[in-house]
Amino acid sequence: MELVLEKVNKLKGNIFVPGDKSISHRSLILGSIAQGETRIYNFLDSLDCLKTLECMQALGAEIDLGKDNSIKIKGKGLYGLQEAKDMLDVGNSGTTIRLLTGLLSGQNFYSVLNGDNSIRRRPMKRVVEPLRLMRADIRGRENGQLTPLSIKGARLNPLRYTLPVASAQVKSALLLAALYTIGETVIKEPLPTRDHTERMLKIMQADIKIFPLEIKIKGGKELNGTDIFIPGDISSAAYFIVAASILKGSQIIINQVGVNPTRTGIIEILKKMGAKIDILNYKIKSNEPQADLKIEYSDLKGVEIKEEMVPFLIDELPLIAVVATQSQGKTVVTGAKELRVKETDRIKATVNELKKMGADIEEREDGFIIKGPSKLQGAVCNSYNDHRIAMSLSVAGLLAEGRTVIQNSECIDISFPGFKNTLRKLINS
Ligand code: S3P
Repeated sequence: MELVLEKVNKLKGNIFVPGDKSISHRSLILGSIAQGETRIYNFLDSLDCLKTLECMQALGAEIDLGKDNSIKIKGKGLYGLQEAKDMLDVGNSGTTIRLLTGLLSGQNFYSVLNGDNSIRRRPMKRVVEPLRLMRADIRGRENGQLTPLSIKGARLNPLRYTLPVASAQVKSALLLAALYTIGETVIKEPLPTRDHTERMLKIMQADIKIFPLEIKIKGGKELNGTDIFIPGDISSAAYFIVAASILKGSQIIINQVGVNPTRTGIIEILKKMGAKIDILNYKIKSNEPQADLKIEYSDLKGVEIKEEMVPFLIDELPLIAVVATQSQGKTVVTGAKELRVKETDRIKATVNELKKMGADIEEREDGFIIKGPSKLQGAVCNSYNDHRIAMSLSVAGLLAEGRTVIQNSECIDISFPGFKNTLRKLINS
């Protein structure tokens, strides 16, 4: 499917964005292994999260997806899942495969995890290696580095481990596995990464202690089901935050967006670049902060983004490249080589496609350098079947002269099924 964009004057209006993807995945997994009922509100019914839902159902979880994106789960307890009758298909979802590898390692049954072409290229060693230290029995291509993975559930030992890569998916996989051990697991992070798993485990009364860059968790204790209100996904809001910041005369409000400090790098960096973003009605729901965001157009300048900042805005870096093309001076992103192993190589994809549109962008092994501002020209762009690339290029298409065509744009449904309609609302209002 092609998405066609024309140059737009400004964005105006008041919108909601769908629920947070990371929190939606976690609510399904933890709700299924908790005791009692979990009700989830504002669940993200995108392709990725529906894959987690189907996998959990195949493992015997009782999950009802109701109307208006609410979910009811009758929890099975820590030891209540069952062997699936077939391979578990995670589709395109890295979060599903990494988190389930941790969860399934500690079960008393056998599982096989498989996914699409992109999943079969993504590195799994980062989860398999520490899980094997816990005595997990995991096999896969290239000695368990690549999917499909087969997991023979085993009695796991607790672990003391320092993550070599800053990855919330790996951290979460280990936390899930740790629930199935007797004793204390200690996980240290090189840099802070999104902490949704820890926050949810806390409200489900896990035996968990959270310190800066260190988590201690004791296994064997049942979790309690609870109500989970999922805030809007800041990574989805980011496309409109950026579009409103760079289209002259724009003023928009995005309601009830998750503003967990491990996710707000995009706001911090845009503010550093000179953006006008107000955070209103801040509150905490289900142990996650949320707020309304008011964004107005403003003149922006280039910025430097280094490794320490990367986990706070990892999924927004292709979009930052788009902002940088409209900002005065140089933007330099370093320490972001993780982008090369996302749904696609996001450094290459961003550089190739923005070049086609006339941006002054240079590829670096671990990031990119952009000189702005430059006038973008509409072009026929490839999404590389990567939702974040497709939506970032759509934002570029709103300010480019002429028509921009995004090929294979159906991948947007991976994280944001209503993207086009929400954008249309801001263009028309
Ligand atoms: C995610 C963590 C990040 C992020 C991904 C979602 C999560 O991946 O890029 O979109 O839900 O834990 P890494 O853990 O690989 O950094």
